[in-house]
Amino acid sequence: MKSPAPTTSRGNGSSGHRSTPESLDCSPTSGYTSSTATRRNPVAAIVGIFTACFSPPDTNNSKSFMDSEEFKSSSVASEASRSESSKVSGSSRGINISLHNSIQGEPGIVKFTMEEIFQVTRNFSPSFKIGQGGFGTVYKAKLLNGTVVAVKRAKKSVNEKHLGVEFQREVQTLSRVEHLNLVKFYGYLEQGEERIVVMEYVPNGTLREHLDCIHGSILDLASRLDIATDVAHAITYLHMYIDRPIIHRDIKSSNILLTENLRAKVTDFGFSRQAADIDSGMTHVSTQVKGTAGYLDPEYLRTYQLTEKSDVYSFGVLLVELVTARRPIEPKFELKERITAKWAMQRLVEGEAISALDPKLDRTAANSLALEKIFELALQCLAPQRQNRPNMKKCAEILWTIRKHYRELSASEFRSLSSISQRSASTKE
Ligand SMILES: Nc1ncnc2c1ncn2[C@@H]1O[C@H](COP(=O)(O)OP(=O)(O)OP(=O)(O)O)[C@@H](O)[C@H]1O
Ligand SMILES: [Mg+2]
Repeated sequence: MKSPAPTTSRGNGSSGHRSTPESLDCSPTSGYTSSTATRRNPVAAIVGIFTACFSPPDTNNSKSFMDSEEFKSSSVASEASRSESSKVSGSSRGINISLHNSIQGEPGIVKFTMEEIFQVTRNFSPSFKIGQGGFGTVYKAKLLNGTVVAVKRAKKSVNEKHLGVEFQREVQTLSRVEHLNLVKFYGYLEQGEERIVVMEYVPNGTLREHLDCIHGSILDLASRLDIATDVAHAITYLHMYIDRPIIHRDIKSSNILLTENLRAKVTDFGFSRQAADIDSGMTHVSTQVKGTAGYLDPEYLRTYQLTEKSDVYSFGVLLVELVTARRPIEPKFELKERITAKWAMQRLVEGEAISALDPKLDRTAANSLALEKIFELALQCLAPQRQNRPNMKKCAEILWTIRKHYRELSASEFRSLSSISQRSASTKE
């Protein structure tokens, strides 16, 4: 949907990433590492991560993850909204969005009319504007049936023909996906120079805004782990659970919208592409470089070959951002801290991961352990060569385990803290 920014400006951000894991000294070890091992021998610990990456999935782990209520709830919710939609509108999408003359085009895709869009956005009133991105302007609007939606209006472009094709492709893509952790697509409009997408309105801002605390509260680590798990589920779904896999291509914190309960919904399929058709023997899609500086897979930049593992790389950058709260590129910081992922991975290797924790978070044992585990996963995702990166499903499984241990440790920290305070209260008596 968006016109690509010049390739040259995009290269800067990732050049630093390339050297990160390569600079690690690898010595043989085995198994997934404990945080104590990481502290004692960070290099061995990191090699352990690579070993874990190559070893077959832990079936117990996978089982608990796949059987988890949460994993089921994504699919169940999706199913539920599907049956709800057929009840309400007879469409395969989640909502009856027709006003008076919306057209039901291809199955499951609603075509809006200009009249309807003008009406609900009050002629694109600036007071309805909620954001601006590379694609264009985003408005909040209320349809006649009361549904609150986000209306994305593309910038007018000189290269209309090219954008029209892109837009049609995007609409097709959007209409095929449905998952609890992906922003729902409700419909579109293409008329003359206008290209508009109507989608689910997600009310609580972007992940980046929350990391910057602009909504007034600090995201605790438990919420950050939930968000990372949600994103991993959404991308796993795009890569593995639809007929033709989709590569998102622009995973970043401003493309993760949060609900009131601080759960994540991934948006902006503006860059998404069909993944290669494995049955036909293709292993990658050759394409123009697109994405956002700082999140781009160095192998994709070098070869122009896009695979699902490019999303995994961006997800690794996102994981580091999530726990450090730093942007992937911090031009104002001193040179060795400018590329956040490179700096953070170096800190991990030096056994000093804790120094990279978002200063807004407490340095509790649970936070410290989760941070190390998240960094270890990020390190795998940031492997320079795609075959050394885990797939997204594996990332989701690992995150699920990290989160489980985090909750257990937090609960026991809480219990021991309250027994200490009880003991000190009874001593005083
Ligand atoms: N579905 C939505 N619900 C609520 N707010 C949204 C929605 N989509 C976008 N926004 C808001 O509009 C802003 C702009 O979104 P947009 O995707 O156009 O740009 P961006 O993600 O900031 O940058 P880029 O163009 O590089 O993706 C977002 O930051 C968010 O605040
Ligand atoms: Mg966006």
